[in-house]
Amino acid sequence: MVDKQAIQKATAHFGTVLQQQLERVERLTQAQPWLDFTKVKPIVIGVLGGDGIGPTITNEAQRVLERLLRSEVQAGKVQFRVIEGLTIENRAALLQAIPDRVKEEIAQCHVTLKGPTHTPEQGDSWPNIESANVAMRKEFDLFANVRPVRMPQEGIDWIFFRENTEDLYAVGSQGVNVTPDLAIDFRVITTPGTLRIVEAAFDHAKRTGRSKVTVVTKANIVKTTDGKFLNLAREVAARYPGIELDSWYVDIMAANLINPLRRKEFQVLVLPNLYGDILTDEAAQIQGGVGTAGSANIGKRHAMFEAIHGTAPRMVTQGRAQYADPSSVLRAGAMLLEHIGYTALGQRLHRALDICGQYERKVVMTGRDTGATSQQFGDYLMDAVSDASLDRRWEAATQAH
Ligand code: IPM
Ligand code: MG
Repeated sequence: MVDKQAIQKATAHFGTVLQQQLERVERLTQAQPWLDFTKVKPIVIGVLGGDGIGPTITNEAQRVLERLLRSEVQAGKVQFRVIEGLTIENRAALLQAIPDRVKEEIAQCHVTLKGPTHTPEQGDSWPNIESANVAMRKEFDLFANVRPVRMPQEGIDWIFFRENTEDLYAVGSQGVNVTPDLAIDFRVITTPGTLRIVEAAFDHAKRTGRSKVTVVTKANIVKTTDGKFLNLAREVAARYPGIELDSWYVDIMAANLINPLRRKEFQVLVLPNLYGDILTDEAAQIQGGVGTAGSANIGKRHAMFEAIHGTAPRMVTQGRAQYADPSSVLRAGAMLLEHIGYTALGQRLHRALDICGQYERKVVMTGRDTGATSQQFGDYLMDAVSDASLDRRWEAATQAH
């Protein structure tokens, strides 16, 4: 017997979800201007340590950024502000993805550097509250998750534009167990949400002289939502003459990334949220591990910079937190510098990371006591960013490969 009551209940819930999403679409169509960092003084950088290995690695990134921005801080152009309280203990106690007080403090910063935060899942020891990352992306409408992966010696120079507020993430905590045997989640793809991420990818391609944008979907199977994403990408592409649009399905794209004959041809990639989540971990692993990759969560009024990985709870329980690699948050820090207008400093930090992490490797991290600590790597990097001959070292290193 079909449970009519269960259907009615689920339908009512679906109605609420639709209502919320249509209201959201309404908000998205009211375009907001971009924050102009040349007019902001001081630029306030919030620092959130997070959980697990978060405080250790974020601390290193903060140290390096403070060094690079020392004279800007002294001149009153930039200010650092540490924000406490975005911890799983606090979030669980308050049953809030982001505690209200923390949210207010974030709102007073122009950008934030954030350590990984624990994401509860069904059946673990924490209440099943929404992920702090996802909440932050939604709350501050950080729609573009930009993730570069670079291996100059392999000819790899990818930049992923992952849509960051929609897809299965938009209402990921609002699925329904219709009956004990039937669970349904909702996938959301909107016109304004898709247009702005695809445009961001094409604008980036245009600005940086790239000739191709690759869109990744599964539009042959997920026809309505992915079909919409792909069609809108085609529409946007038509407005950018000289930049080719290339389209792949996500399964073969996962294979392409590890195909040495094919992977060099990818430049800018644009994808819905979940495919972006998955493929960027794969891409980061190709570069040397998720610990080496940073990410920018960009919105028009706020931007948040973080590692692409989680809190590594095993490293903490095994007493190895001090050996966590800070490269990911440092990469995020380099993107932060570029975002707020300090492009040359950002470039310096990227180069120092290339040298210390991929080429010279004088201080090597293994994640355990067989290698360096986070702080030792931070010191090594600090020396490299302050070295007057950094550019020469970088050129020599990349040419030798
Ligand atoms: C990421 C992470 C997050 C995500 C988690 C921690 C919620 O995997 O930033 O890629 O799924 O987006
Ligand atoms: Mg991820």
